[in-house]
Amino acid sequence: MRGIRQLVGDVRLVRGDLLDQGSLISAVERVQPDEVYNLAAMSYVPMSWQQAELTGEVTGLGVLRVLEAIRVCSGISASRSPAHGQIRFYQASSSEMFGKVRESPQTERTPFHPRSPYGVGKTYGHFLTQNYRESYGMFAVSGILFNHESPRRGAEFVSRKVSLGVAKIKLGYERQLRLGNMQARRDWGFAGDYVRAMQLMLARDDPADFVIGTGVTHEVAELVELAFKIAGLDWRDHVVCDAAFIRPAEVDHLCADPSKAKDQLGWEPTIGFEELVTMMVEADLELLSASGGQADESFGPESW
Ligand code: GDD
Repeated sequence: MRGIRQLVGDVRLVRGDLLDQGSLISAVERVQPDEVYNLAAMSYVPMSWQQAELTGEVTGLGVLRVLEAIRVCSGISASRSPAHGQIRFYQASSSEMFGKVRESPQTERTPFHPRSPYGVGKTYGHFLTQNYRESYGMFAVSGILFNHESPRRGAEFVSRKVSLGVAKIKLGYERQLRLGNMQARRDWGFAGDYVRAMQLMLARDDPADFVIGTGVTHEVAELVELAFKIAGLDWRDHVVCDAAFIRPAEVDHLCADPSKAKDQLGWEPTIGFEELVTMMVEADLELLSASGGQADESFGPESW
């Protein structure tokens, strides 16, 4: 909500709840959108073990309810295919669907093996989006997005937890940063680049799914080392491994093959790993310097 509140002057907010089919139908009826982007989910992986049923309802069945709202409001049925000018739908699928990866790098054809209730919920939403495209001829597509970050990232996710932790230590508010699995590998990119990919996907003539990532993977340990180095600190003086942040099942290695997006969308990331981590550390140093050490961390830091 923090990100939305900052923009509220330019954005008209309409109430809707992924747990409430009627509210979604009214929202679509009122707004009459050209495009719908479903970026809503219970998106923090560790929490999905604690709230597995809610995760299934929101992250999984929520997709069904949005698709149904669009279908009903557009008057689409199995015997009546969509009219020209139909609403285009984007589903935020996730690289967490690849989970225990069958091959590396991962493409649109790599089989899924999700490793958390969150990953399972996203996989349901992904196949359902494909199914509505095939069953009803709807313009419904999924972007299989790898980790995407920015200074607006929630404090519970590792990139922001690290950039905030570094800033607090640098400014003397804290001495330690407690983390979980430092060996996991992720393909981290800049959220702004990924939003551009979403828009390109809906601007195409043919609906299709795309993997969106940088094609470069790093260990959590590399992210940590770099973030501390940017602030002139040595991570070994401050980072403590804490079993409370180890997950019941881990996704060890994610790396995108974004060739299809490059070929068919003309999409490429503009911001690399070092630039991204620098941007986040510098933003948090500035934020905490101005706020006397306070940041919006309503969700975390949390263990699973
Ligand atoms: N959050 C967190 N906190 N992660 C930690 C920590 C810690 O203290 N220590 C190590 N990690 C490791 C996690 O075990 C994981 O392997 C990796 O850092 C990244 O964790 P997150 O930043 O929480 O992201 P994620 O990869 O689980 O999921 C994010 O990316 C997905 C796209 O692949 C989320 O944004 C998902 O919603 C999204 O779908």
